[in-house]
Amino acid sequence: MNPSPIFLPCAAGVEPLLADEVRALLAEAAPRAAESVQLGRGGVRLVGGPATAMRLHLESRLAARVLWQIAAGRYRDEDDLYDIARTVRWQEWINARQTLRVDTTAVRSPLQSLHFASLRIKDALCDVLRDATGERPDVDPRHPHLSLVLHLHEDHATLYVDLSGEALFKRGWREAQGEAPLKETLAAAMLAASGWHGREQDGPLLDPCCGAGTIAIEAAQIACGMAAGLHRSFAFEKLAPFRAEAQAWQEMKAAARERVHAPRVAVHAGDVSFRMTDFATRNAERAGVTHAIEFKTADALQRSAPAEHGVLMLNPPYGERIDAKGTGSTGRGRDDHGFEPAHRGARADAGARQGFEDGGSPTAFFAALSAHWKRAYPGWTAWVLSPDAKLPQAMRLKESRRVPMWNGPIECRLFRFDLVAGSNRGKPDAASDA
Ligand SMILES: C[S@@+](CC[C@H](N)C(=O)[O-])C[C@H]1O[C@@H](n2cnc3c(N)ncnc32)[C@H](O)[C@@H]1O
Repeated sequence: MNPSPIFLPCAAGVEPLLADEVRALLAEAAPRAAESVQLGRGGVRLVGGPATAMRLHLESRLAARVLWQIAAGRYRDEDDLYDIARTVRWQEWINARQTLRVDTTAVRSPLQSLHFASLRIKDALCDVLRDATGERPDVDPRHPHLSLVLHLHEDHATLYVDLSGEALFKRGWREAQGEAPLKETLAAAMLAASGWHGREQDGPLLDPCCGAGTIAIEAAQIACGMAAGLHRSFAFEKLAPFRAEAQAWQEMKAAARERVHAPRVAVHAGDVSFRMTDFATRNAERAGVTHAIEFKTADALQRSAPAEHGVLMLNPPYGERIDAKGTGSTGRGRDDHGFEPAHRGARADAGARQGFEDGGSPTAFFAALSAHWKRAYPGWTAWVLSPDAKLPQAMRLKESRRVPMWNGPIECRLFRFDLVAGSNRGKPDAASDA
C-alpha cells in the first residue's frame, strides 16, 4: 500500500501535545512521516504508510483514532459526494459478505442532512461493488467490518477509513470504573502537558483521588516503557489491505513487548473509597502494571507524602456526580458507592457531625486539601484538572500554569501549583497560559 494522508483526531486543546508525541514516535522509524506532521483543527495530519499507521495504533497515547484518507475532493451537493466515493476501488477493502458503516461530521457545510450525505457514500460503495462482483454489502451500525468517516468542510470533502475500530482511549484494560472516570487519552494528555515522562528525573507521581486508576495506570505504563496499544486489537488487523502487513505487525508488537522494563520511577495512587482502590488495582493488573503502582486506600486530606519531592496529578471530586469525602467532608457517613470511608476514626466522625465551617461545600474540601498539601507536601508540584475556573481561589493557591483541556463536553483547566511550606500562595514561576 502506498503512503496516504492520515488524520489523528484528538480532544480539543491536545493538538500540539499530539503533534509532539507523533513526531517523537516516528522520528527514527519513519522520519519522513515525522516531518510531515501538521497541526489541524481537532487533530493532527501527516502522510505515512501502513507501518506508520500501525505504529501509531500501538504507541500513541493521545490520538483518539487513526483515519486513513481514501478519497477527497470539492463538492457542492450529495451527488458530488457520490462521485468522490465512486473513485475508490472498494473491492480492495470490503467484500459483499461483509458490512459497513458511514459517519459524517461537518464544519460549515451547506448540506441539510448529514445522514443523507452518509447514504450517498454508502450508495457509491455498494454500486462499485455490485459492478465489480454482482453483489453488495450491508450496513451494520454496531459492528461493521469497514467503518468510514466523511469530513465535510465548506466546499471540500474528505473520506477516511477508520483503521482503529473502537476509539483508542479504550486501551483494553479498564473494566471496573467509578462514576466519573477520565478517558485514558485525557489522563495521558494531563501527563504530557505536565512534562512528566516517567523518567527518574521526573520524580515519583501520586494520584490521591485515583478512582478507577486511570492517571496512575497511564503513568505506570509510561514509567515501564509499555506501549499504550499492547492490550487490545484494532479494526485494521482484519482489513484486506493490511493483511500483507500481518507479520510486520506481529514483529512490531513483539519488539514493543521486549522493550518493557522495570519502572524507572515510583507511582502511587489511592482513593478514600476502598471499592475504588480495589477497582483501580484490578485495572492495573489487566494493564500489566500492578508491580509499578503502590495503591493505598486513604483520605487525600490526611495522606502523607511518599517522598520528599514529586508530582501530584489528579482530577478531584467535583460537582454532584462525585462528592468530596474524607475527614473534612459533610460526612454523610457513606461514600457515593455506599461504602464507609476508609478510616472513620475520631476525627472523621467529628467531621461527619460538624462538616466544614461553610457547610461542607466543595470549596471547604479544596481549602482543606491545600492546607494539608502545604503542611505535608512542600516541594511537590500539584497538577489538578478541574472544570472550575475559580479553583485556585478555592484552594487559596496561585497557579503557575493553567492549561485548557476538555473532559468530553466539559471545559476544564489543568492547574499547576508549586507547593511551598506554610505559604498561603503557591510559587508562580511561569506566566499563566491563556
Ligand atoms: C473524579 S473521580 C476521579 C476519577 C479518576 N481520575 C478516574 O479516572 O477514574 C474523584 C475520586 O475522588 C475520590 N475521593 C473523594 N473524596 C476523597 C478523599 N477525601 N480522599 C481521596 N479520594 C477521594 C472519589 O471516591 C472518586 O473516586
